[in-house]
Amino acid sequence: MGPIWTHRWGSGPPQPRAPPPQMLLLLWVTVTMASVVAGGGPGGGSVQFLAVGDWGGVPDPPFVTPREVATAAAMGHAATELGADFVLALGDNFYYEGVRDEWDPRFQDTFERVFTAPGLQALPWFVLAGNHDHAGNVTAQIAYGHRSPRWHFPHYYYSLRLSLPGTNASARLLVLDTVLLCGGADDFGAGGAPRDAAAAAAQLSWLRERLAAARRDRFVLVAGHYPVWSAGEHGPSACLRRDLRPLLRRHRVTAYLCGHDHNLQFLWEGGVGYVVSGAGNFMEGSQRHGGAVPPGSLRFFYGAPESPGGFVHVRLEPAAATVTFLEATGRVLHRVVLPPRHP
Ligand SMILES: *[C@@H]1O[C@H](CO)[C@@H](O)[C@H](O)[C@H]1NC(C)=O
Ligand SMILES: *[C@@H]1O[C@H](CO)[C@@H](O)[C@H](O)[C@H]1NC(C)=O
Repeated sequence: MGPIWTHRWGSGPPQPRAPPPQMLLLLWVTVTMASVVAGGGPGGGSVQFLAVGDWGGVPDPPFVTPREVATAAAMGHAATELGADFVLALGDNFYYEGVRDEWDPRFQDTFERVFTAPGLQALPWFVLAGNHDHAGNVTAQIAYGHRSPRWHFPHYYYSLRLSLPGTNASARLLVLDTVLLCGGADDFGAGGAPRDAAAAAAQLSWLRERLAAARRDRFVLVAGHYPVWSAGEHGPSACLRRDLRPLLRRHRVTAYLCGHDHNLQFLWEGGVGYVVSGAGNFMEGSQRHGGAVPPGSLRFFYGAPESPGGFVHVRLEPAAATVTFLEATGRVLHRVVLPPRHP
């Protein structure tokens, strides 16, 4: 069986580096393992992943929250029972100010020592940065990819090609850095402006190119930290609504996945699914921006303050993409089936 995913670096500042040979080797090893899971485990014939956001513990001992620990355990169960080929980390990986350098003990205390369930041990993580990561050293999070076999963060933004095993169907996952696009001041849904306008423009033109090249992919998923739409505390990002939403609609993107608001949401607008999965460490029930999303678009919202956290499971099969919202208790909260872009 061939690799289920291959991987492309973004371009534009900061300049991409050629992958060191040992990293390609690691990628190949994880590809092989992922193919075995995809072909033989639950949900064979599909590509599956878990998406968790805002999971990054706390800066003081014990460097985790009870919700992060519970969510990690439940992700392990879900990977075993539903199947998973990788984990997508939607940013705010290290509260509250990211990491200092690639040797920062937080990589151990908040990541390696927490996501240890048997179902997770062999899974590659594909990582993007949130605003709290940008408060520290994101270069160090990228560099950590050379030190951990499961941490894959090749560039600030990058593209993953997913092959659905046993079919000719493929899917595309485009991973963005929305802090470079919109700035760090977008925390409360204000306009937001990037610190480096040229870098933001370069990322957007990279995205346009990748979307155009994804014409034949059966599913296209885009991921970033800030929401386009959210009914929660932070709400929609004006900058993404202006710059990203038209591209998602024009290219018939299947879904946009994000974190930032600390709950689980599904919104449906203009033929695009909007998945908020920001419940890996905190839970917030506020629907302060319920009036700021298009009428009727909010199909699911869960942020019960007593909840032990949650995450999302995505299954891509030739006929459908199924998004399942899970609580850290293991309870299925909501499930939505999205159609392929073309038969
Ligand atoms: C960020 O991390 C990289 C990789 O460890 C390191 O080389 C660099 O010095 C760090 N930057 C700062 C400002 O500490
Ligand atoms: C995939 O494409 C090849 C070449 O077009 C074709 O021969 C094959 O039957 C296809 N396989 C499936 C599973 O559709």
